[in-house]
Amino acid sequence: MRKALAKILITHIQELMTMRGVLKNKARGRQTEEALAISKKQAMVIEDGQILWIGAQSKIPREYRSIKNQKAIHGNVFPGFIDCHTHSVFAGDRTHEFEMRVQGASYQDIAQKGGGILHTVRETRKASSASLKNDLQKRMQNFLAQGVTTVEVKSGYGLSAKDELRLLTIIQKQSSPVQTVPTFLGAHAVPPEYSSASEYLMSLKKVLNEIAQKKLAKRIDIFIEKNYFSLEEGKNFLKEAKDKGFEITIHADQISRTGAAALAVDIGAKSADHVICLDKKDISKVAASEVTCVFLPSADFYLRCPYPPARELIDQGARYALATDFNPGTSPTQNIQWVGLLARQEMRMTLPEVFSAFTVGGAYALGLEKSRGVLAEGFCADFFISSLDWDQFFYSLAPIPIESVWIRGQSFKV
Ligand code: NIG
Ligand code: FE
Repeated sequence: MRKALAKILITHIQELMTMRGVLKNKARGRQTEEALAISKKQAMVIEDGQILWIGAQSKIPREYRSIKNQKAIHGNVFPGFIDCHTHSVFAGDRTHEFEMRVQGASYQDIAQKGGGILHTVRETRKASSASLKNDLQKRMQNFLAQGVTTVEVKSGYGLSAKDELRLLTIIQKQSSPVQTVPTFLGAHAVPPEYSSASEYLMSLKKVLNEIAQKKLAKRIDIFIEKNYFSLEEGKNFLKEAKDKGFEITIHADQISRTGAAALAVDIGAKSADHVICLDKKDISKVAASEVTCVFLPSADFYLRCPYPPARELIDQGARYALATDFNPGTSPTQNIQWVGLLARQEMRMTLPEVFSAFTVGGAYALGLEKSRGVLAEGFCADFFISSLDWDQFFYSLAPIPIESVWIRGQSFKV
């Protein structure tokens, strides 16, 4: 059990971004500066990791004015960013494949020759748990240094019962202050031990039971794509997982149109990720649904894929998030400024939309919308303090100057 923490009064917040308007519109559709709800000279009371009160410095309720533990910040406060799609636990790199792609080979060509995901699976299986854990720790530190307070981490480079459980255990035991959300991605590719996707998926059903029983993950993901898992195979597997109580997310319509984004709607998935190859019908169907579209433009850049039809989705009222997709193959970067910059430059997302996507949108994708992504009473005290003004983000690739990051009311220097 977490120790109950004493109340803290934070004062002299120069500018505070709360996302209250985005909370109201449920992170759907176009966002404006107004929805970010930015105000000057603010204060906040934190108790037990949660925001107890937040408002104008001039209006701090009498009962909080004498709190012993007070901190004058003299900086701007932003909600902690949420990276809702990463593959942060892996060994090795894929630099050689990047050079092959530069010379004209496609992601699919490389995969067909046993490279791609399976290359990283070989490296990861060979790696010791201590080194995987150590690398994960450093990567979480890199996220923390950018003001990221919640990170989703998928398994998916083990692809055997033993190795997938090992990766999920490493994610569960990580000890950085960043809050991690584990996702089981056993259905990332078919490992060499199996001759067909359906035979492999059959074997994963048992693994699902063990994951549920050991409480290693509450959500599962699948890569529905030509040469990986078909829509039909995905549908059966996801139905089974849903019946067992798992939340669903799908790598959907990334390289070719499979109909996986539409399946995400039909099956009640939390999110459909990538969502690049959508037809008009898919766009309206997803936009009208509760599914969060997760855009991963760094992977699109590295694969020279088209970017997702973000403008159409957003203009039709979709809910959306942005994430790094950090992985050694298609997005070897953790840089969220870069992801936000691509979203603005290449996908015509506005700056308020990028902030919304990295906070409330990400919270929705992870089913955490009631506790994360917004700075309001009852939400987790997850935020960072910076000298940067809100309109200076996602423009340059210089590191965000961060004074400290607060997670559940505890501050960390970065
Ligand atoms: O999101 N598309 C599938 N999964 C990852 C790539 C993983 C890899 O290539 O290692 C992605 O792009
Ligand atoms: Fe991914």
